[in-house]
Amino acid sequence: MTNLNVNIGSLMLPNPVLVASGTFGYAREMAGLVDLSRLGGIIPKTVTLASRAGNPPLRTVETSSGLLNSIGLDNDGIDEFLTDKMPYLRTLGSPIILSVAAKSVEECPVLANKINADCSGVAAVELNISCPNVSGGIDFATEPALCERIVTTMKERITLPLFVKLSPNVTSIAQIALAAERGGADAICATNTCFGMAIDWRRQTPRLGNAYGGLSGPAIKPIALRCVHQIYNSVKIPIIGVGGISNEDDMMEFLVAGASAVQIGTANFFDPTITMRLIDALPKLLAELGAKSVAEIVGSCKIVNR
Ligand SMILES: Cc1cc2nc3c(=O)[nH]c(=O)nc-3n(C[C@H](O)[C@H](O)[C@H](O)COP(=O)(O)O)c2cc1C
Repeated sequence: MTNLNVNIGSLMLPNPVLVASGTFGYAREMAGLVDLSRLGGIIPKTVTLASRAGNPPLRTVETSSGLLNSIGLDNDGIDEFLTDKMPYLRTLGSPIILSVAAKSVEECPVLANKINADCSGVAAVELNISCPNVSGGIDFATEPALCERIVTTMKERITLPLFVKLSPNVTSIAQIALAAERGGADAICATNTCFGMAIDWRRQTPRLGNAYGGLSGPAIKPIALRCVHQIYNSVKIPIIGVGGISNEDDMMEFLVAGASAVQIGTANFFDPTITMRLIDALPKLLAELGAKSVAEIVGSCKIVNR
């Protein structure tokens, strides 16, 4: 019998297949397509302290090599999330990981207090310090000292396990991951989107309303995979891999690279039942490596000729 459970710090997930923030709505939208109770975890769209209108259209553009988005963290704020979205989410039976973003370090205690006061049904918090579409926010994911400071501040206040979601748009992702670990993160999520641009040359304008945005989908998989491997070789805390995963092989590559679990993002848009397929396939895929549990293969990628 294969054991699909995975431990992310003190949190045990029923399997390692989660859905990524911003690509699965608030789960209700996907209820007709996916058996939500089977997911290893659901990470709803990031919420912020105050509601945000988001960026001007166009907010998403398909390019020849991936999806470019600049949503700008459009959301109704944490109070609305906790009162209006959580009652449905807590009925689903799969772990709910609340994604939050802060504009400043000072906002963190306020966010943490709100979550602590009303966290029934929330399994963990994912601190999104890596959204490329919100001016100011990105510094937390590119400056190790700032990253450590925001993580420490959040960790001191929050009672739930704290995951920190990093950006691939840095010189050394290992340095940022180490800073998050020093700050007390219980796990690292890697990665968010790659900063990019699309241009309509006939109109001589950017195609996104906000000019720049985040690239996602299969095109970024090698980048995210490399980030996970580098982080695995640097920190001791677990990693949740995300970036371009769109089939069974992609999932296995992330686990072998060092991820204890994976998040499926853009693939939900073009293959909405992918998560169910990946969960079903896992026992057979693990057996190919002679493994009976996910933990046995995490980080098993050997580097030869080095
Ligand atoms: C339309 C869209 C919206 C997103 N919104 C969020 C968000 O609110 N918070 C967040 O942490 N990541 C957000 N992401 C990033 C994804 O969670 C994921 O990290 C990224 O897309 C890479 O994974 P993928 O290639 O599998 O999509 C968004 C991605 C897309 C495509």
